[in-house]
Amino acid sequence: MRTEWYKEDSFYQIWIRSFKDGNGDGIGDLKGVLEKLEYVKSLGVDGIWFSPIYPSPNADYGYDISDYCGIHPDYGTMDEFREVLLKAHELGLKVVMDLVINHTSDEHPWFKESRKSRTGPYADYYHWKDRPNNWDSFFEGKAWTYCPERDQYYLHLFSVKQPDLNMDNPEVREEVKRIMRFWLDMGVDGFREDVITYISKREGLPDGWPVPILGAMHHYKDGPHIHEYLREFRAVTDDYDVFQVGEGPMTWLRTAKSYLTGPGKSLDMMISFDHMVCDCLFTEYIPLPFSLLRYKRALSRWQYGLAGKAWNALYIENHDHPRVISRYGSEEYRKESGKTLAASYLFLQGTPFIYQGQEIGMTNIRLPDINDYADVSTRHNFSTYHLKKTIEERMEYIYRSSRDSARTPLQWSGGKNAGFTDAETAWFAINGNFAEVNVEEEEKDPLSILHFYREALALRKREKALLYGKYRLLSPLDRHFFAYERTYGGEKEASRENSADAGGTGDRRAAEEQILVVCHFGREPGTFRVPRSWRGRKARLILDTENRHTGAGEETLPDKLSFGAYGAQVYKACAREENHGK
Ligand code: GLC
Ligand code: CA
Repeated sequence: MRTEWYKEDSFYQIWIRSFKDGNGDGIGDLKGVLEKLEYVKSLGVDGIWFSPIYPSPNADYGYDISDYCGIHPDYGTMDEFREVLLKAHELGLKVVMDLVINHTSDEHPWFKESRKSRTGPYADYYHWKDRPNNWDSFFEGKAWTYCPERDQYYLHLFSVKQPDLNMDNPEVREEVKRIMRFWLDMGVDGFREDVITYISKREGLPDGWPVPILGAMHHYKDGPHIHEYLREFRAVTDDYDVFQVGEGPMTWLRTAKSYLTGPGKSLDMMISFDHMVCDCLFTEYIPLPFSLLRYKRALSRWQYGLAGKAWNALYIENHDHPRVISRYGSEEYRKESGKTLAASYLFLQGTPFIYQGQEIGMTNIRLPDINDYADVSTRHNFSTYHLKKTIEERMEYIYRSSRDSARTPLQWSGGKNAGFTDAETAWFAINGNFAEVNVEEEEKDPLSILHFYREALALRKREKALLYGKYRLLSPLDRHFFAYERTYGGEKEASRENSADAGGTGDRRAAEEQILVVCHFGREPGTFRVPRSWRGRKARLILDTENRHTGAGEETLPDKLSFGAYGAQVYKACAREENHGK
């Protein structure tokens, strides 16, 4: 039976290679995860999403899988994984796996067989063509690579070493189901489904428009059989009480609803990208100044759009984007902006995801040489674009855009290798700011980003309004403040929540509860004009980035709220005299 337990939960994303090294070889691993599970639990999250930990040649750091039912030897053994799963469950942490089925590694046995000949059981597991079409890949030039054994080309939307699976082949779909059952039977609690909206390609793989990279997207994004295939996979998870969150690059709200709602619902949540392009054009490699208006608009579009119909996946960082403080906040006001960014998304309606290191405010790195970078797309971008510019200028683009900024080892302490590993060196460069930015320091500092995350997550769990309340954007045109309210209560909210089986109290006469969230973006001090509907009301400061809320009592909300550089304040309205719960 499927329930919607994930609605009140939040998740911590582990990109294992850089999380914690447990055996002293410089590479993060399951032993390290086991060691740090209590820490993860202490954040107040309810589960972990593991980016791929399967065997992989690491052309795309785990997203090129060569065995779906194994553990990469760098990270440990299946027994160690079972131990992590068991301990996580004992601590009350769910475990969600990454399901990467748009492509495999070219070193997967299926592909090794498939490339051998045009006949044979694996011949049609991938997309093969005598002549390539004009599609581009996202990571490495053209989307087709020649294979002499077959005298044909294979399709790869990502790197050369990530051939796309042919999902039209029913045998491939059966393989996917077997993989899903393998992990579900072991007891995992759900899947994050990688570029899942790309798995169905248009028949005949026709040419796209002559536009770089994006020109052929309409031939594989939300493709002709996508819903059919995803429903087949959904039927597998129907037998388990788990959730599925899909990654949908460039999936707009309307399309998202086709996955998230109705009888054909195939996903519980969608990882959308709208709010991740507020400082760039499509990709961080084409930078623009950060626009708070775009951020507010993007988030609000999904809040309003899914309200009462579906559930949001909330995130501002993951392994695919540079660190958010360096993008949308300010490294100079690291603490202030880190906390403000947290408040800007944790209190929206949806299930929050927090990426490792985000909770301590890690920032981007600037490595001197392109060869210091590991990410395939970073290296490709460097060698392909802006070639007329100087090396220094080209490196600036890398500093702005590289996914490697999010993949540096987690900074646990100010000690050797930031406490990440006992080895002489870590597998990848450690951010030079580790002496100040690390878990140990942040544990000591009551004003740290880390403590703020803990408080914010606990608050979200406590307040029905933050979980289920109706969202309203306030002062939409304000360029320095992102303010919103969440309102819970009254018959409608309560009954909707019950029907969604989301742990509702069944109290149809619940009094109205209202929360106001005000986030200040900017280095200059600023004042926020409190909207009329809130002015003069009795409210309590329940969270703020300067810790003034501890012990704060009821106050009458003034007309203006003052902020220093960045900052957030969260108020809860005190019950009104009249009864609004009807
Ligand atoms: C997703 C992953 C990303 C990976 C790509 C190809 O976007 O999040 O890390 O490179 O898919 O698998
Ligand atoms: Ca290790």
